[in-house]
Amino acid sequence: MKGKESQIKDLFDHSCTDSVVGTEWSLHQLSPYIGKIKSSIAKFLINHFTEKNDVIYDPFCGASTIPLEALAMGRNVIANDLNKYAYILTLAKLHPPKSIDGVLVKIEKYNKLVLDHKSQIDLRSVPPWVRSFFHKETLRETISWVHILSKKNEWFLLACILGILHHQRPGFLSFPSSHTVPYLRLKKYPPDEYPNLYQYRNVKERLIKKVHRAFKRMPNFDEKLIKDCNQRNASSFIPNMPVDAIISSPPYMRQLDYGRDNRLRLWFLGVDNYKELDLMVSPKETNFIEVMTTCLKNWNTVLKPNGKCILFLGDNYSSKNKLKLPDLIEKIATIDLACYELIFRHESIIPNNRRVRRNYTGNKVETVLVLKKIADGNPNL
Ligand SMILES: C[S@@+](CC[C@H](N)C(=O)[O-])C[C@H]1O[C@@H](n2cnc3c(N)ncnc32)[C@H](O)[C@@H]1O
Repeated sequence: MKGKESQIKDLFDHSCTDSVVGTEWSLHQLSPYIGKIKSSIAKFLINHFTEKNDVIYDPFCGASTIPLEALAMGRNVIANDLNKYAYILTLAKLHPPKSIDGVLVKIEKYNKLVLDHKSQIDLRSVPPWVRSFFHKETLRETISWVHILSKKNEWFLLACILGILHHQRPGFLSFPSSHTVPYLRLKKYPPDEYPNLYQYRNVKERLIKKVHRAFKRMPNFDEKLIKDCNQRNASSFIPNMPVDAIISSPPYMRQLDYGRDNRLRLWFLGVDNYKELDLMVSPKETNFIEVMTTCLKNWNTVLKPNGKCILFLGDNYSSKNKLKLPDLIEKIATIDLACYELIFRHESIIPNNRRVRRNYTGNKVETVLVLKKIADGNPNL
C-alpha cells in the first residue's frame, strides 16, 4: 500500500495534468496573465495544507488564482502584487458583482457617459505603438470605458474590458493580435485580405458578451471572509494580521517580464513605463535572491507558530549559487535563515502544452516546497 506522502504526491501530479476546461470558476478566465498557476494546483495546495477559515497570504498573487480558489474554499485571503494589472484583476476577482442583471444595467448607464466622453479624446496623445493595435473609433471608445470604469471603481467591468482588449477573434477589440502578450498578427491576417478584421468594433456589445462568459461559473463567497487586496512591494509589505499559510508562486527568476508582457493592458491603466516596473517585478538573479531572502525573513514574523510557507517554483538555475531555484530557496529558508523546516517537497514535469515559453530551455519541471515555521528560528532575525 502507498504511504500518505506518496498518495499526496500522486494527487499533486493529477492536479498538474488534469484538465480544468469547463470546470474551473469562469473568473479564472477573466483576463490572461503570463506565468499563471493552474487553478487545480492552487486548489490542491489549499485543500491539503490549510483548513477552512485559515488566513492565507499570497505575496506575488499575479492574476489571483490562489486567492480566488482560497476564498471560494472558505479561507480568509490577503493578496498582493506590485503590478497594477495584477492588482486590478485581484480586486475584480475577489469582489465580483452579485447579479448579472445589475451589471447589465450599469453597462447601459456607463455607455451614456462613454458616448459623451469619447469625443474629447485626442488620439495624438496616444503613443503610436498603442494606436497600431486599434481602429481609431474603437480606441477612443475603449479609452473612455477605461476612464469611466476606473473613476467609478468598477473593477470587475474594467477587468472584463482588459480581458477583451486584444486577440485575433471577433469578440475582442484590437486588430488581429495574440491574446496574452500583445503582438499584432499582420502577416497572418494582412489587412487587404481580411479587411473586416480591421473595422470599427463596438465595445459595449463585446463587453456584454464578456460579462456573460464571466458569469458562467461564478463562485459564491462567504461575505464574512476577509479579502484584503494590496499593490505593494512584497519585500516591504507585512500583513497586519497573523497568517496560517503563505501560498505563492514567486516571479520566475530571469524568465518572464511581467511589465513588458502586459504592456498594452498596463498602458490603458496609466502605466506607460513598463521598463521601470520590470526593474521591480521581473528581478534578475541577484535582486531575486535578495527579495526572497527578505520575504522569507518577514514572513517568519507574520506566520502563526507552525504556520506554513508553500512555494511553487520553476527549475531555473542560479549560476551565482550553483543551485536550482527550489534548492536555493530551501537552503535560504532552512540553513541560512534557519527559521523553517522542510515538511514536503515534490517535483512535477510540466506538460509541453503548459510551458510558458515552449522552446525555452528552462522550466521543464515545477516544484512545490512546503516549509513550516520553526517557533525558535534564528535569534538574529
Ligand atoms: C509567477 S507570477 C504569479 C502568478 C500567480 N500565481 C497567478 O496565478 O497568476 C509572479 C508575480 O509576482 C509579481 N511580483 C514580482 N516581484 C514582486 C514584488 N517585489 N512585489 C510584489 N509583486 C511582485 C509579478 O508582478 C507577478 O505577477
